[in-house]
Amino acid sequence: MRVLGIETSCDDTGVALYDSGQGLLAHRLFSQTELHLDYGGVVPELASRDHIRKALPLIRTVMAEAGTHPADVDGIAFTTGPGLAGALLVGAALGRSLAYAWNVPCVGIHHMEGHLLSPMLEPDPPAFPFTALLVSGGHTLLADVQALGDYRILGESVDDAVGEAFDKTAKLLGLGYPGGPAIAQAARTGNPDRFKFPRPMTDRRKTHGAHPGLDFSFSGLKTAVVTAVQNQPLTPELIADIAASFEQAAVDVLAIKCEWALEQSGARRLVVAGGVSANLKLRERLRGLAEKLGVRVYFPRGEFSTDNGAMIAYAGYLRLAAGQREPLTFGARARWRIEELSTVK
Ligand code: KG4
Ligand code: ZN
Repeated sequence: MRVLGIETSCDDTGVALYDSGQGLLAHRLFSQTELHLDYGGVVPELASRDHIRKALPLIRTVMAEAGTHPADVDGIAFTTGPGLAGALLVGAALGRSLAYAWNVPCVGIHHMEGHLLSPMLEPDPPAFPFTALLVSGGHTLLADVQALGDYRILGESVDDAVGEAFDKTAKLLGLGYPGGPAIAQAARTGNPDRFKFPRPMTDRRKTHGAHPGLDFSFSGLKTAVVTAVQNQPLTPELIADIAASFEQAAVDVLAIKCEWALEQSGARRLVVAGGVSANLKLRERLRGLAEKLGVRVYFPRGEFSTDNGAMIAYAGYLRLAAGQREPLTFGARARWRIEELSTVK
């Protein structure tokens, strides 16, 4: 089965072709970073318009690179949500229209399920069940994963997502957008022990939140950075030290929660995905944790940590192969909890 995947939930237009026999045939990404740079964040209306401009040419390129004609495509997958409503509607309209024109089934994919499954595109992929840490610009969550679509939230952020904390901290330090890679770069020459930033909600005796011990909070960390930059000139050395101290605090929090989640779930596998999983310090720390606990840890390749079409094509293949079909009626779901997905066994 050959599936075309389309991702347009935020500021990246991603397109890919996945083949169940041959694996990933071709994938392309157009990043809108430059378009939004002057605004310090994503401007939804500009994002939608640029998806309209880029999606179809990218689809043509991917089809040509894979030597695939419309008649060879067995199904189409597109991101239905969560994300920016206008941006989602571009992918949803395009996906449904192509499915109608090519007379093939289509399926709407939950963006975070795409991330969750992205490590399965690598050699030696994880098998179910596993515990997952999903860390992106909009989500920070731990989930117990039993099967495709069988997700139980173990913990999630009560305020900012961890990627959002990276982005806001980078903005405070004048490092630009997106903040994650900029912070990681600046942190390389910094002293991670200069600032003792808080590790919010890592005191287990205080069991706050809906998921005792496993919920996250990152807004306090951002406030601590605001205090650190106040009343002093932002020298390159100060920027590097704050970036390194911030990165260490964020990685600490994520690693502590992963350890507790694995203890609670008893899982032997840890899957880590989403934009922040590109962070090398986080990967290093979680590899160490996995070794200590005797569990295996799985990541997507760096390129597929952040948004991409490949994860949508792959998730689409799994759901289409299981017989799931999307009606051709128009729609997208800007807000959508991953726990609401249907289980495929
Ligand atoms: O998954 P993603 O591409 O988009 C969403 O679904 O949100 O994640 C984007 C987030 C941004 O907040 C970005 O700053 C963060 O991932 N990010 C990183 C790194 N690369 C991207 N955070 C930390 N370190 C990185 N190397
Ligand atoms: Zn994403």
